[in-house]
Amino acid sequence: MLRFFAKARRAQKTEAPAYDELLARIDKERLPRHIAVIMDGNGRWAKERGLPRYAGHSHGTEALRLVVEQARELGVRILTVFAFSTENWKRPSIEVSALMELLRKYIAGETARLHAQHIRLNFIGDWRELERGLCLQIEEAMKVTAANREMTLNIAVNYGGRQEILRSVRKIAEKAALGQISPAEIDEQMLESGLDTAGMPDPDLLIRSAGELRISNFLLWQLAYAELYYTPVYWPVFDKTQFLLAVLDYQKRGRRFGGLGE
Ligand code: IPE
Ligand code: IPE
Ligand code: MG
Repeated sequence: MLRFFAKARRAQKTEAPAYDELLARIDKERLPRHIAVIMDGNGRWAKERGLPRYAGHSHGTEALRLVVEQARELGVRILTVFAFSTENWKRPSIEVSALMELLRKYIAGETARLHAQHIRLNFIGDWRELERGLCLQIEEAMKVTAANREMTLNIAVNYGGRQEILRSVRKIAEKAALGQISPAEIDEQMLESGLDTAGMPDPDLLIRSAGELRISNFLLWQLAYAELYYTPVYWPVFDKTQFLLAVLDYQKRGRRFGGLGE
């Protein structure tokens, strides 16, 4: 028994400095301005514990809370997280309903807390196609936090990168059809201004948990020059330490944007 407590104390002692030590190593001058996250592995985390997939998603919202807090504490300007893709409708309806219910709970439980931290809550994707009650909740949360400037938290719901680009292209095509612009005038800026992230810098860093090495239709246009980071850690156990590890890895990268670098 005594040995158990001694071991637990040692474990606590060795864990705590690791976080502080990582935090001290962060170069505040070279923070990613915008971090995108593919929160993956909720299902596998639950399965390994003999729990229903829902439990994984539920724990995942706790991880999101920690990551939002850490991003804000560091001074990251924009955090964009992938919560539900246009392809996730393929899942059993019971799981889709559970995810929508969690989203409802997240907005109801977190908006006031985010607002108190001066965080703007913004939704991207075709969220207007969701059930009406949820849409109204989203609109209200966005309205309440619209003027907050500390950080923007973009939550991608019913989001698909290809669909987002198509929406922008349609807006441009409508203008062209009305004779307001000529095809030759269409440039990157025009396309960008029709994206859900209009006016925001592109992500500098993309984090994907749970070991998968793919983009899964996330921010296809915006990720053109993002640094990619992946970890085998499942999203429900992703925490502040994991987030710092990703940022530190990013800070080791030499970014060249096609040039020869600094
Ligand atoms: C990510 O976890 C959450 C969503 C896609 C909504 P998953 O549910 O994809 O977890 P895995 O990939 O099955 O482990
Ligand atoms: C991407 O994860 C979508 C979200 C995290 C919301 P998926 O689990 O849906 O991606 P795939 O199916 O493994 O590519
Ligand atoms: Mg997955």
